[in-house]
Amino acid sequence: MKWKFYFLVTSFTLLILANQFQSEDDRSLSDLLLNQALDILKVIPQFENQKTINEEDQVVIELPMDYDFEVQKIIHDLQLARLTSDQIRAKELLEESSRLGNVEANFILGDINLYGNYSYPTNGSLALKHYKKVTELSSNATAFFNVAFIYSTGLFGQTEINQAKANLYYNLAFQEGDLRAAMVLGYRYSQGISLPEDCNKSLYYYQYAANRLKDIYDSGPIGGLTLDSFSIRIADFNGGVYGKGVGDIPNSLQRKASRYDELLVPNSLGSEEPLFNSIYIKVLNFYEGSYLKPRDFKSAHRYAKYAMQQGMQQLSTLIDLDKKYVAKCIYIIGRMFLRGEGVTQDFAQALVHLKKSIDIYPFDDTYNELGMAYEFGPENVRDLEKAEAMYFNSSEGPGIAGKYNYGRLIYSKDQAKAKDLISVAAYHLYLPAVYHKVEFLETSDKTKTCLMAVNNLKYYVEKFDPIITSLEWAFHELIFGRSDNALIGYSMAAEQGYESAQASAGYILYQLPSLLEEPPIIPPERKKMALNYITRSSAQYNVDSTVFLGDLYFSDKDYDKAVAAYEASSMRGSSQGNFNLGWLYENGHGVDKDFHLAKRYYDLSLLSHSKAYLPVQLALLRLRFKSLVNNLTGGKINSIDGENQESRTWSDWKNLYKKIRGQNLEIIENHPDHTDFDDVPQDNDGEMTFDSEDIAVLLFLVLTLGLFFLVQWNQQRIIRNRGVNNQNRANFEFNFRVFAI
Ligand SMILES: *[C@@H]1O[C@H](CO)[C@@H](O)[C@H](O)[C@H]1NC(C)=O
Ligand SMILES: *[C@@H]1O[C@H](CO)[C@@H](O)[C@H](O)[C@H]1NC(C)=O
Ligand SMILES: *[C@@H]1O[C@H](CO)[C@@H](O)[C@H](O)[C@H]1NC(C)=O
Ligand SMILES: *[C@@H]1O[C@H](CO)[C@@H](O)[C@H](O)[C@H]1NC(C)=O
Ligand SMILES: *[C@@H]1O[C@H](CO)[C@@H](O)[C@H](O)[C@H]1NC(C)=O
Ligand SMILES: *[C@@H]1O[C@H](CO)[C@@H](O)[C@H](O)[C@H]1NC(C)=O
Repeated sequence: MKWKFYFLVTSFTLLILANQFQSEDDRSLSDLLLNQALDILKVIPQFENQKTINEEDQVVIELPMDYDFEVQKIIHDLQLARLTSDQIRAKELLEESSRLGNVEANFILGDINLYGNYSYPTNGSLALKHYKKVTELSSNATAFFNVAFIYSTGLFGQTEINQAKANLYYNLAFQEGDLRAAMVLGYRYSQGISLPEDCNKSLYYYQYAANRLKDIYDSGPIGGLTLDSFSIRIADFNGGVYGKGVGDIPNSLQRKASRYDELLVPNSLGSEEPLFNSIYIKVLNFYEGSYLKPRDFKSAHRYAKYAMQQGMQQLSTLIDLDKKYVAKCIYIIGRMFLRGEGVTQDFAQALVHLKKSIDIYPFDDTYNELGMAYEFGPENVRDLEKAEAMYFNSSEGPGIAGKYNYGRLIYSKDQAKAKDLISVAAYHLYLPAVYHKVEFLETSDKTKTCLMAVNNLKYYVEKFDPIITSLEWAFHELIFGRSDNALIGYSMAAEQGYESAQASAGYILYQLPSLLEEPPIIPPERKKMALNYITRSSAQYNVDSTVFLGDLYFSDKDYDKAVAAYEASSMRGSSQGNFNLGWLYENGHGVDKDFHLAKRYYDLSLLSHSKAYLPVQLALLRLRFKSLVNNLTGGKINSIDGENQESRTWSDWKNLYKKIRGQNLEIIENHPDHTDFDDVPQDNDGEMTFDSEDIAVLLFLVLTLGLFFLVQWNQQRIIRNRGVNNQNRANFEFNFRVFAI
């Protein structure tokens, strides 16, 4: 440990020197201390990357359901005690340097205490202190932003929440050109969050961010920068807040490794190997990457080349489908040459390959790529007329990039047509088109125009999440089991207006318990933030969040608000929301008991989601039974009337019973007394007689349904573990427990 000794001597000497020469030399001393700290930190990894993998080779995400500041403090102190001597030394040096007014040292200490770099425990109030110091000493956009973020969230109970200060610092960050701050302000003005709602102002901020990001996009390879998004909802790893296939919003996981698997259905004749098919999928997988595997251009190129060589040899004997795959592979090679991906950019090669691909099969994407080569290529390649012809051919097909490029190129010649084409491409969310369309957005209503422009630009800007958010970092922190760090990343993006991040942050903070579980035990500050995020996500048309919001209020026994939320979700056609509303009417929570309305909502639930069939049938059965009892006992509750009974006959009931009871069925089936429900005479005052067996059946059903209902109602305390031995783990690659509603 020679260097340590050396270091002690130097810093000691320097300290003495510093005392004599005072502030002039404070800077050089603080720099020196800083550099010594940096030398130590250099060899410590920023973050430990240890995934938990289960037996099925799936990455496991664990979210603690409960939270307690005292426990947190103990963990914090344990982490402090576990620091290595190097870590302690580096921190001391940084602190000393920060006391001497070193900006960078303060900044690093802020980072460490906010993000937990180099495995240091985090401390919100210290992070705030150090970032604030940075803002006092310099005009650092990142520090302004982070201070604003801390004031806005209070780091979930660690520091004070002060939206006025948050807005002030967001503004300061924006003045230093911080795009994240621009997004926050744009979002706040658009939704009226701690700032007055003002579309014009919102538009100003979003336009500013969009213009800057467009420059970045265009500075990328021909055809635009590659943007690998990590904007996901965590709950979607389990198929959504309500389980697989149940929610009413599309899954946010666009870049799963398995997304092309279903295209790999083996040839139905079983005779030929689906060779080119599977190579092409491999190429795509390498070329596009996934959440856990970054793009691998070299391998993509290698496989595509192999497909090309094989394909060109066998071309005359290939079936059409295989030819298409070969053409696609060659197209990708051409594209990679054009964009310089995995190979050095080479226009000649790009042209050769793209043309070869078109000769085999003329895909509109290939025409588009050729058009770009002619439009953006060097002098000897550039030929705008050819480019236009290529774009035209491309625009005739279904591909949207070609439509946009053709529209863009003919804009000066034929504006009406150009606008049409660009609008179509924008409608299909082709990114450059979304930006372009804002230029000619026009409606008779100025307010509406502004809202549309904001929506377009917000969409555009948010696509740049790898550049302007910490979402990728947050994603990896989640996988590496540090949900608190992940929360920081998700809530930052949530501030920036990302709906997915709002849903995720809310989900990390609060996971709904099932009826059989205790609600999470968390401090009110965290619950309030969770409510905040879910509310914002719901306001951005995540209807699952709207239902979730209802559930949150429900679990708090705040039935009026629960009803309001469910009603809002019902209006947006949420199956789950309708179901829950039906349940509230059935049981009279927050509303008067009304079996008639309950039935209506159950029916609506069925309408909007085919998966709802079984639970809705079960709920209706239960409802009918209650209604019957109510009728028989002369209750005052609005009963189910005769309408629509044809749709659910006694044999439907029996079928359900069949599903549940299985083998014991025949006995009941053979019972002679069964008649279809519809056959019961309607003029008997609703007083239907059942024989004892029927009642037994009904009772049994009710019991089963009760149980089923509990399961159904269970909002899946999904990814979590509580206590050491009670690890209820969810796995990452999407085959988790499923509660179909
Ligand atoms: C954070 O640091 C402050 C000041 O050093 C200390 O009072 C507080 O207890 C720390 N918080 C935690 C969670 O350790
Ligand atoms: C803020 O300060 C840190 C530390 O000095 C520096 O690394 C970072 O680039 C600065 N950020 C901006 C936007 O100036
Ligand atoms: C700490 O980690 C965050 C998140 O990855 C990163 O943005 C920041 O630059 C890191 N800070 C330092 C000082 O390494
Ligand atoms: C927003 O801007 C438009 C056009 O500049 C203007 O006509 C309108 O009055 C503004 N609205 C508000 C609320 O400032
Ligand atoms: C456009 O497509 C047609 C056939 O669909 C083809 O004959 C023509 O050569 C193509 N244009 C260019 C510029 O390749
Ligand atoms: C209950 O009574 C009402 C009228 O009193 C009748 O319309 C309805 O069909 C009855 N419902 C059941 C389930 O028997």
